[in-house]
Amino acid sequence: MKTQIGDCTLELIQGDITQQNVDAIVNAANTGLAGGGGVDGAIHRAGGPSIMEECRPLGGCPTGQAKATTAGTLKAKYVIHAVGPVYDMHLQRAPQLLASAYQSSLLIVVEKECRSVAFPSLSTGAYRYPLHEAAPIALETITEFLRSQLHDLQLVRMVLFDTKTLNAYDNALRKLSQSQH
Ligand code: APR
Repeated sequence: MKTQIGDCTLELIQGDITQQNVDAIVNAANTGLAGGGGVDGAIHRAGGPSIMEECRPLGGCPTGQAKATTAGTLKAKYVIHAVGPVYDMHLQRAPQLLASAYQSSLLIVVEKECRSVAFPSLSTGAYRYPLHEAAPIALETITEFLRSQLHDLQLVRMVLFDTKTLNAYDNALRKLSQSQH
């Protein structure tokens, strides 16, 4: 599913984020920027050790924020390491922190003059954020950013790993589009 926001296409696809031919890919990282499983493991494996070498001196990253490295052997130029909330730990602050992780990533993407970026579904794996709650927050935050900030972005692609995740985002985007017409 796709929608157009000004000059930018917001697209939802099922796939592997490490394979995306975009200027920046976003990683679902932890506060230590220490690597892990899920998207994080896949990005470090596919991009090679230089990504971790660049992460080490960054001194971690607070929840709800993001930091950039280059992307090693990946097709992308940058990896934006975003730290989403742990659902059971951040509780009532979780929605705000999740939105902030997307916003911070987009601000860095714009600062780096990227024209295209791919996001995974932040926090909905190991961090256990329920999909039906996370998907609308992700899409509303991205949409709001694209409408309100100056940017040259032409493509924001959500790369969803499995059918269940793709369906949750499809439903959320449909509802969001209906509510805005
Ligand atoms: N491409 C796209 N999406 C992927 C990929 C991939 N290659 N691999 C996994 N996913 C999906 C998962 O299926 C889930 O829907 O990304 C979503 C986010 O899951 P996680 O990677 O577990 O991210 P998160 O919930 O934010 O947890 C972050 O997990 O691996 C650790 O170091 C990471 O501690 C951090 C935590």
